[in-house]
Amino acid sequence: MTTLAKIAASATSAAPATTATLAPATTLATPAPITSIATLDIRLPHTSYSILIGGGILREGLRRAFAGRPAKIAAVVSDENVWALHGGSLASALRELGIECHAEIIAPGERSKSLASLETLYSSFFRAGLRRDSPVIAFGGGVTGDLAGFAAATYMRGTPLIQIPTTLLAQVDSSVGGKVAVNLGEGKNLVGSFYQPSIVIADTDLLSTLPPREIRAGLAEVIKYAAIGCEGLLPLLERAPLSGIAGVARGAGKAREEGEAHMESRASAAGCIGGTGGASETGETGATEQPGELERLDRPDMPAQSDGPDTLGGPDGRDRLGEIVRLCCAGKASYVERDERDTGDRMMLNFGHTFGHAIEKLFSYKTYNHGEAVSIGMMMAVRAGELMGATDPAAAGALGRLLDSAGLCGYRESFDMERLIPLMSGDKKNASGGGISLVLLKKFGSPFAARASQQELAELFRREVRL
Ligand SMILES: NC(=O)c1ccc[n+]([C@@H]2O[C@H](COP(=O)([O-])OP(=O)(O)OC[C@H]3O[C@@H](n4cnc5c(N)ncnc54)[C@H](O)[C@@H]3O)[C@@H](O)[C@H]2O)c1
Repeated sequence: MTTLAKIAASATSAAPATTATLAPATTLATPAPITSIATLDIRLPHTSYSILIGGGILREGLRRAFAGRPAKIAAVVSDENVWALHGGSLASALRELGIECHAEIIAPGERSKSLASLETLYSSFFRAGLRRDSPVIAFGGGVTGDLAGFAAATYMRGTPLIQIPTTLLAQVDSSVGGKVAVNLGEGKNLVGSFYQPSIVIADTDLLSTLPPREIRAGLAEVIKYAAIGCEGLLPLLERAPLSGIAGVARGAGKAREEGEAHMESRASAAGCIGGTGGASETGETGATEQPGELERLDRPDMPAQSDGPDTLGGPDGRDRLGEIVRLCCAGKASYVERDERDTGDRMMLNFGHTFGHAIEKLFSYKTYNHGEAVSIGMMMAVRAGELMGATDPAAAGALGRLLDSAGLCGYRESFDMERLIPLMSGDKKNASGGGISLVLLKKFGSPFAARASQQELAELFRREVRL
């Protein structure tokens, strides 16, 4: 029995070498029918690539990704949850294409986005015989995408990168646009690069196993796109409660299961090999729920919700989920095409993030995941704009309704702004000495860039508390 590699999850040191077997993974012996493949092209001066979006498109996407490539081996970087659930499908699809798959499995969670993990990946890639033309496949959420992406950007001065995002957040945001990074003890994403993938394959059926809390985290980014005016998105989101998206994603999963002939006992049996690695250590944002089960809401600030029927509005919910992903990716693509290096317009994508990153940090990355923090951050940004007299008061209502409908929480006045605001100054989006960069809304759908000093923000929110 082949064992699979794990790499260190510690942010500061490589863990001792060990190997581990993983839970059973499924294989698409009889693939679920493909919906249709929507293709978006990102065109940049130095490169261009496609984003493929649709349900059940993994195999076809991989076929296109490897068409015309001489590579016979690829490194797959995935996390334990994703690999256990979907590794077999990926490995068998690669095997069909005659590609040897070298799997490196990281512990789930933010702590795997570390320099220590990177070093383990580089060594393992080298020992497995990966060279400059051997693609790295990032198969997971934003953590995996950012880590594997930075490894691809730097290993042998750059190898091809295939992004296969498996969370909603990664499908609508992190897999597109080329930002890749790891964290330092001092903060998130402080070491990184701009490195565009050669293709993005967003198979929405992979979301079928995503815990509802992670679906909600992705919905926060989806709502962000609507708030900054991403074309066509708002009517689709307003049509029905967003909490139904979790149900739609799981429905696709059921269809998939029905189409599967059998469960494969080990992902390794599908033909993947692994190197040696470090011990597992669950990161603080790792999924603790059983995938596919309804999450029991244990946070008092989160409104209760039910999945409801296919509340995306009809039997074509799977297509609508794909359409939401497509519209968000189209929105992101247009910003990236205009401003790849994030020196101007692309900053609008940061709406809610300056507050959000500080909230994540204030709670030591333990209480709120990225999307939850961004949802609160968006409401805070709207409130800040209102207090400055720059934001139409109707914006808060529009944003709040969407967040409610997704089961996300908004602004809570109990935040300690005296501690939060200094943390915002550390955000890497701030130019040195120029105050805190903010994205505010003139009205819902119309963002603009603003800057405020710590003192100005503190004064605004002091007034807020007195109101
Ligand atoms: N590069 C960018 O442009 C960009 C943009 C936004 C966020 N990010 C980064 O993305 C990261 C957050 O990404 P995320 O929210 O995807 O987190 P994540 O990668 O940690 O995934 C969240 C959890 O979902 C699990 N999971 C993933 N896919 C699954 C599936 N299909 N079924 C069941 N479980 C699954 C993972 O194991 C993990 O426990 C942060 O590090 C953030 O900084 C990057």
